[in-house]
Amino acid sequence: MRILVLAAVFAVTHLAASPPDFHGDIRPLIDQHCIMCHAEDSISFSFADPEFTYRLGPAIVSTVSERRMPPWLAEPGHQQYVEDISLSDADIARFVAWADAGYPLGAPGSANGVRTAPHGHFAYDVAIDVLPGQSYLPRQDQADDYRCFVIDWPLDESAYITGFRAAPGNLQVVHHLVLFAVPPELADRFRELEAAEEGPGYQCFGAAVPDRLGIPEHREAYEERYPDGVMELHRGNYWLAHWAPGMDGYSFPADTGIPMRPGTALVVQMHYYSVFAPGQTDADSRMEFQVSSQVERPAINVPVTINAWLESRRNRSMVVPPGQSARYVADVSLQGLAGYMLRLFDIDPERLEAAEVHSANLHMHRFGASGRITLTEPTGRREVLLSVPRWDLNWQRDFTFVEPKVFPAAQLERARLAVECVFENPTDEYVLGGYGSDEEMCMNLSYVALRLSKPED
Ligand code: HEC
Repeated sequence: MRILVLAAVFAVTHLAASPPDFHGDIRPLIDQHCIMCHAEDSISFSFADPEFTYRLGPAIVSTVSERRMPPWLAEPGHQQYVEDISLSDADIARFVAWADAGYPLGAPGSANGVRTAPHGHFAYDVAIDVLPGQSYLPRQDQADDYRCFVIDWPLDESAYITGFRAAPGNLQVVHHLVLFAVPPELADRFRELEAAEEGPGYQCFGAAVPDRLGIPEHREAYEERYPDGVMELHRGNYWLAHWAPGMDGYSFPADTGIPMRPGTALVVQMHYYSVFAPGQTDADSRMEFQVSSQVERPAINVPVTINAWLESRRNRSMVVPPGQSARYVADVSLQGLAGYMLRLFDIDPERLEAAEVHSANLHMHRFGASGRITLTEPTGRREVLLSVPRWDLNWQRDFTFVEPKVFPAAQLERARLAVECVFENPTDEYVLGGYGSDEEMCMNLSYVALRLSKPED
């Protein structure tokens, strides 16, 4: 509503001058904000042809004014994020003013915008193929296919990942990539899961854990061999990095990195979407890593959720009744998160000086409607780290703050991070918490780095 009012005011004041036209005003905005995904070799139809693009004027203005394009889930006005691709209110107002003026065409050649998205140079240390020597044909019987591939981390000395870039092989079918790490102790278990399904990889909608383990018979059979095995798989893997269309390589916040032990396995979750490219395979997707042998502040993407929700078939802790909506909240102290990290990294708790929260990342499945991540400071002041008024599973990502939130060790106990999810269930079946594509999750992932004093020797 606010946007519409603003747009109207802007249109009136601007019309008195000359209204925006396609070639002079709109094309440069499209070149700057849309071409990275709307190009011949990218994930959606191309805006390279001006005539075609002009004819889409009404569709463009409606998606832009509803903030559906460019796809950026974060509501404006809460935080400043790194690499924010969303349009400013003033840019949106220009699109609306263009429509109000009757879509004037203007003179070709008057635009001075860039024609393609600038791609920075990403100097990497380690490159890994997702499907070495193989190719994968996404499932053709459904639009979306989530497939996980298990890959060995190649370094045989401890190191830190400090930056990541994904180069999808076939952008016509690769929609999204999420990379998880599995510690050496559990790596064989994940390899075994891959061997158990036909073809490369396994189906994995929820995260790194296979879909089929959400089905009671499969889960029971698995847990006869590995008691409590599904929860072990879930707790044992952690989110490393991700790629979404429009993203290039990125370095993690300066002087931070995620520790990687030799023998760690990587699980790459590829989200394939083959409606625009039936029959096409993915053969040469690859990943590039910046790696450092030491960093100042070790970091990891820590989950905020309630594990019991994933066991809802057993404990009914997350239930969305048919035709209804439901709200779930998980809330943890930063002390709890820091403690989890210190144990994981095997660091003496006495060394902890401060914790830095660098990002928020909401995760739900398809019944998610909206969600929020909030931070409550020891003073009781609460701030919104991320608000997603309209959830869309396709565009989940890290939202990294320009300024991290930093708390000294003594305050961590009273600083709290919370994730709040609202689900809507339009079906006539109960929706329960779990991993499967018909089940729900409510989780935040925040990149947290620890400031440590020098170890005592
Ligand atoms: C990060 C990638 C990305 C960016 C940036 C992007 N789009 Fe899209 N767009 C898509 C994809 C993918 C689709 C196909 C539908 C989907 O998957 O949501 C799409 C669909 C559309 C559609 C079809 C209608 C619809 O809602 O599906 C329009 C119109 C559109 N985009 C306009 C734009 C405009 C205008 C911009 C820039 C202001 C833009 N897009 C920026 C990825 C992007």
